[in-house]
Amino acid sequence: MDTIKIRGGRPLHGSVKVGGSKNDALAIIPAALLVPGITKLRNVPRISDVERLLNILRYLGADTRFLPDGALEIDASAIHRFDTPQDQVQQMRASFNLLGVLLARFGKASVAMPGGCNIGARPVNFHVKGLEQLGAHLMLEHGVYEGTAPRLNGTEVYLEFPSAGATQHLMCAAACAEGVTTIENCAQEPEVVNLAGFLNACGAKISGMGTPNISIEGVSSLHPAEYSILPDRLQASTFAIAAAITGGNVTICNIQAEHCRPVLSKLAETGVEVIARADEIHVRRNGRLMPTDIKTLPHPGFPTDVQQPFAALLTLADGTSVVTETVYESRFRYTTELQRMGADVRVEGRSAIITGVPMLTGAPVSCTDLRAGAALVCAGLAAQGVTILSELEHLDRGYENLVENLQNLGADIRRSNSPNTTGKLQSA
Ligand code: EPU
Repeated sequence: MDTIKIRGGRPLHGSVKVGGSKNDALAIIPAALLVPGITKLRNVPRISDVERLLNILRYLGADTRFLPDGALEIDASAIHRFDTPQDQVQQMRASFNLLGVLLARFGKASVAMPGGCNIGARPVNFHVKGLEQLGAHLMLEHGVYEGTAPRLNGTEVYLEFPSAGATQHLMCAAACAEGVTTIENCAQEPEVVNLAGFLNACGAKISGMGTPNISIEGVSSLHPAEYSILPDRLQASTFAIAAAITGGNVTICNIQAEHCRPVLSKLAETGVEVIARADEIHVRRNGRLMPTDIKTLPHPGFPTDVQQPFAALLTLADGTSVVTETVYESRFRYTTELQRMGADVRVEGRSAIITGVPMLTGAPVSCTDLRAGAALVCAGLAAQGVTILSELEHLDRGYENLVENLQNLGADIRRSNSPNTTGKLQSA
């Protein structure tokens, strides 16, 4: 079993370059199957979720390879299967978007109900309802959606919650539909905007992205394009919190600072010095952390994916903070792991009440999901003594070179692993 060992108590110093966004890559890679040709993507993170998705693409008949310059090429000219490998699909949420993509390009698809981090029910009803409104026929049999759609037709979709995944899925499905599709109350996440940018670079006609209403004028086909995955705002936020919790002084580079604004504004409320420029953030802390309350919301609200690391920070604040999770029903399982480290956290329904303690102490803890892992790394960096993290497969899904990056910032952190399971993947 791989573990990460952290000897905490060292303030982080220096600069760190943020890699490509997991959630942006996982939205754009399936969309590349809409294009009968070679898509070239830059800044794709080498993480296990990306590798898993590329395995699925290859199963369908796509050719995928990382070039020596780091770019990923996806050749979707020779797709010849429309069913997906159930065991792989069930391990990740983003694979579900293949349903709409395959239906849009080939008129048939068979995709299992998706998996992903265990943070709540995570149904797919908005995706299914939207695809049916576009004219797809879907049947759920033995956990697999079987779909046919001789032609998708533009329609008006209203999402009862601004789901990032459903917005992205329906945008892909509608890109080549007959006529105009509008999605009302859609998600405004940067990854939604960038997916629309990618599709438009391929010839789609999408407008309104970044607002609550998106309009998609269907085109007859898409053409190949070269495009860049966004810098990972969640990774950047994790480094900012790691700097703050250790009383460090860190510059986080290669980012779009505006995407981190909801987190940075809360970080400043805790008494941390935050200076944001267009493509970098500087974070420094000298004094004691102040408590603050956070409530997760769809973008541009406070991101649920940073709720867990931010809560780790608040365990050391001088007073009581309330963290309210409104996006997922069960994203507090990690708090029992923080309690092992001496944190004073009480979960009441959708809120965690955190009373700051003077210090955390290292302990053996397990990563209950991806961002829980990030929270425990942050806590371990600040704790006195040794923290040992297990269940690293969750962390490997979304953080590229995390241990190396933190070592470069002066952390005493190392990973014990068996060969070929370092989280850094081979070229595919
Ligand atoms: N929802 C439904 N029905 C649906 C779709 C969503 O009820 O058909 C609910 C979900 O259960 C959830 C809420 O709507 O309560 C929001 O879900 P959303 O669809 O926005 O999330 P997602 O697209 O499944 C992506 C990210 C998540 C991130 C959310 C919110 C990917 C692969 N995943 O998930 O990332 O939390 O958006 O920003 O892009 C992570 O990176 O740790 C992670 C979980």
